[in-house]
Amino acid sequence: MKSKTEQMKEIKNEILGLKKSPLYVERIKNKVLPVIGEGSHDAQIMFIGEAPGKNEALTGRPFCGASGRVLDELLNSINLKREDVYVTNIVKDRPTSNRDPSLEEIKIYGPFLDRQIEIIQPKVIATLGRYSAEYIMKRFGLADQIETIGKMRGKIFKTKTSYGEVIIIPLLHPAVALYNSFSRDDLKEDFKSLGNRITK
Ligand code: URA
Repeated sequence: MKSKTEQMKEIKNEILGLKKSPLYVERIKNKVLPVIGEGSHDAQIMFIGEAPGKNEALTGRPFCGASGRVLDELLNSINLKREDVYVTNIVKDRPTSNRDPSLEEIKIYGPFLDRQIEIIQPKVIATLGRYSAEYIMKRFGLADQIETIGKMRGKIFKTKTSYGEVIIIPLLHPAVALYNSFSRDDLKEDFKSLGNRITK
């Protein structure tokens, strides 16, 4: 049986050579990196964002720019550190000029995320933004409960996976605090619902 680290490495290597993705060409042209994910492979909680931004593609690390600083503040508000959780995105390469990920991109990269979930086997999946909320809800048989992210935020959805019960918590994307559409306190309120689910 391959270790979790070995399985993650395999995913990384496959993504490095993912020539069928339209974002592969951009990655090579712009000399940037895919973002696989970061954190504990034994994490109870997995955070899933949308796609890497500029800073992420330059460093190969998820949420390392302005949104990442908001994420760190939110984690801190429920006494969590990055090392305690696993953070990744649905789409692993940066969509050019920060546009939203396309359906085609989600289809290409989604199976890698599915494998990462199977490797980590988190008890809680916290989605960041509407793309990952919709992807995960559909993936785990909750398509009929999808609403706008404004209505789903902070709610708890229980579901079964191949490895057991999982709680899904759709959260707002941390970037909304940067555009001032929501305050950090609004986001912290939703994070409390996540904090209440964690056994430390
Ligand atoms: N936004 C995301 O959705 N993911 C990142 O890694 C960075 C910003």
